[in-house]
Amino acid sequence: VSEGGDPRAFILANTRLGAPPLVPELALHLADEAFPLWHESEAELAAVGVPPPYWAFAWAGGQALARYLLDHRGTVRDATALDLGAGSGLVGIAAALAGARTVLAAEIDRIALAAMALNAEANAVRLEQIGRDILDEPPPDIDLLLVGDLFYEHETAWRVEAYIERARGAGIEVLVGDPGRHYLPAERLEALAEYRVPVTRELEDQEIKRTAVYRLLG
Ligand SMILES: C[S@@+](CC[C@H](N)C(=O)[O-])C[C@H]1O[C@@H](n2cnc3c(N)ncnc32)[C@H](O)[C@@H]1O
Repeated sequence: VSEGGDPRAFILANTRLGAPPLVPELALHLADEAFPLWHESEAELAAVGVPPPYWAFAWAGGQALARYLLDHRGTVRDATALDLGAGSGLVGIAAALAGARTVLAAEIDRIALAAMALNAEANAVRLEQIGRDILDEPPPDIDLLLVGDLFYEHETAWRVEAYIERARGAGIEVLVGDPGRHYLPAERLEALAEYRVPVTRELEDQEIKRTAVYRLLG
């Protein structure tokens, strides 16, 4: 796998346009089950400092949060929302389809930024990309902060936790979709809905992941 050259060409060559199982309304460029991209790139791309292609999968937390937004449109209608760690962009795209006025999407992986642009195009919505690490910055002027599956790794998880607490302190509503990953700050969260999310066995070691959507307590 090479990521050299045009990231759009790389994405189109390695994915197929399809729908994540829990959110069939969306069209996303996703890797297939048993797709070699993940394994190959994890080993090979790590050597050149490129992260694994998180953007090529609709993670359990993101699928649940996207489902929640589409089923509870009042949560997001007319809001300015930020999708943090957007990956494929599925949460931000769902927010836009559910009636958000403006959707910002923050990502640090440049291939993910290209993937989410393709995915936004495929769903005829607009995402305003923030292509840098904003976790040490004050939260932008938003109504709603959306976090899909970001508590899987210690360093990122504690920075995200501090960030969402600062956002909540600034009066921003925070929604988290998560399948109970190790670093989820569960004691600070109130569950709003639970889903059984079909996921890629290759990545999760199971086919269905129980996943909840939470709101950060004040
Ligand atoms: C497990 S994926 C989840 C993607 C998407 N939200 C979903 O649920 O499918 C986590 C994503 O967070 C991104 N990420 C990690 N640290 C980040 C940071 N500090 N700022 C923005 N994005 C970050 C990664 O590049 C990756 O795409």
